[in-house]
Amino acid sequence: MAYRKGLFVTFEGGEGAGKSTQIRRLAEALRRKGHDVLTTREPGGSPGAEALRHVLLSGAAETYGVRMEAILFAAARNDHVENVIRPALSKGFIVLCDRFMDSSRVYQGVTGNLEPDLVDALERVAIDGIAPDLTLILDLPAEAGLARARRRSEQDNAQSDQPDRFEREEIETHERRRRAFLEIAKAHSERCRVIDATKAIEEIAADVLSLVEPEIAAHNAEDRKQVAGGE
Ligand code: TYD
Repeated sequence: MAYRKGLFVTFEGGEGAGKSTQIRRLAEALRRKGHDVLTTREPGGSPGAEALRHVLLSGAAETYGVRMEAILFAAARNDHVENVIRPALSKGFIVLCDRFMDSSRVYQGVTGNLEPDLVDALERVAIDGIAPDLTLILDLPAEAGLARARRRSEQDNAQSDQPDRFEREEIETHERRRRAFLEIAKAHSERCRVIDATKAIEEIAADVLSLVEPEIAAHNAEDRKQVAGGE
């Protein structure tokens, strides 16, 4: 796999964990320090994937079943990877992405009961070698996350009529997802860090920065080694 210069950081967790707020704050902090930063999200992030986002979140794909939904998430991801993420990384950007492959593992794989072989195969095709360098899992009890997501969708309802289909589900399902994210964190401890998202926004932002900065430093050191080694 060709060496890439940028750093790829993904944010994961249930609804209402505050991912988008933290991504925005982290991007501002890193830009102030002079880094080139790209923020993006899934499903979506590229024109092709944003079109699929609409199909997925409106519930239009639900009638085709979880397999077809998973295939659409994977198609959207591959479009996003090839048109946005890979080019940005090759230019040396720090890419901050709101949800990525672990969301498919949890939502389609665990709570959607998709066969593990299919989850693995779709992931391989979708990311095509572009795995995150660091994944921050914002961890929050399901009740708290759902309450926040509901407040947000009440505010959004001026523009959109309904909470999206994934937000209509129950606490029980959210707790299963929370456990699944924590299991991923345990199984991939080299890449994943769990952050307590019950804290105040400022405190979470400080925790996020304290985890990302050493990663940037380590990555830059690796970069210098590669350059010195002539790669
Ligand atoms: P979004 O409105 O972006 O919400 P959130 O703030 O929760 O990230 O909705 C994305 C929804 O899509 C969310 O409920 C999780 C779901 N999803 C999957 O089921 N699989 C995936 O691979 C991704 C990226 C998201």
